[in-house]
Amino acid sequence: MATLPAEDATRRAPLALARVPCHVAIIMDGNGRWARQRGLPRLAGHRAGTENLRRVIQRFGDYGVQYLTLFAFSTENWSRPKTEVEGLMRILGRVIRRELQHLHENGIRLLHLGRLDGLPPRLRRQVEEAMELTRHNRRMTLAIAFNYGGRAEIVDAVRRIVAAGVPPEEVDERLIARFLYTAELPDPDLIIRTGGEMRISNFLLWQGAYAEFYSTPVYWPDFAEEDIDQALLAYSQRQRRFGRLPQDESDYPHPSENGRPRPR
Ligand code: FPP
Repeated sequence: MATLPAEDATRRAPLALARVPCHVAIIMDGNGRWARQRGLPRLAGHRAGTENLRRVIQRFGDYGVQYLTLFAFSTENWSRPKTEVEGLMRILGRVIRRELQHLHENGIRLLHLGRLDGLPPRLRRQVEEAMELTRHNRRMTLAIAFNYGGRAEIVDAVRRIVAAGVPPEEVDERLIARFLYTAELPDPDLIIRTGGEMRISNFLLWQGAYAEFYSTPVYWPDFAEEDIDQALLAYSQRQRRFGRLPQDESDYPHPSENGRPRPR
């Protein structure tokens, strides 16, 4: 397992939060609009969207977030122009080449979520080698959803369950979770979407059943440390109930309290 570099061990989270999510998943949206605002081609927006990765991972790590999932390419993105699709494939390869050693030295395990067999063979090998190199790292897990779709994931899980000959009476939620791409990850606690939309866009459909959703108008290439602080602050103030009543009925906020829980 990679060890934590000495200078990192002293880093502190900038805000003292009552609750920090274990798993944060991000829909990185707004690259195209970021580029258009600057009169640049869309791919320039995607390239710019790789410049903040190191800082974003570092900031979540400072707060003690254990799992970070980034949605980089959806099964629906294949219908974009060929140049954009090919550009995104090249960008993923470049990110792996540029960041892998740094991730490994910082104890970060890399996982891929999605259909690997749909990727160009060279990229696929690169992804597999990166996962192999970092598989024992435990400081943080970085999952890249690439050629990922939530519905495709459920279809793949059902196919594998049927192929494994599992009897119908043994199929339950726990078993299905074991057959998803995310078998090694806890469910996300917080899903962040940049670029201002309020959609889930086929992302972690099963796993996100009780995730808190946070949308920010900031375009992904501009998403920085203070935006992470804001998102985590908002999360720490949410009351998670998982379909249950609050533990104590007095937790129900009075309308005049702006939805904030009563201080105890
Ligand atoms: C959505 O923005 C973003 C994508 C489809 C690609 C996201 C990819 C990256 C940030 C680069 C690769 C990152 C990793 C981790 C490998 P959009 O094009 O839909 O933006 P728009 O809504 O403004 O048009």
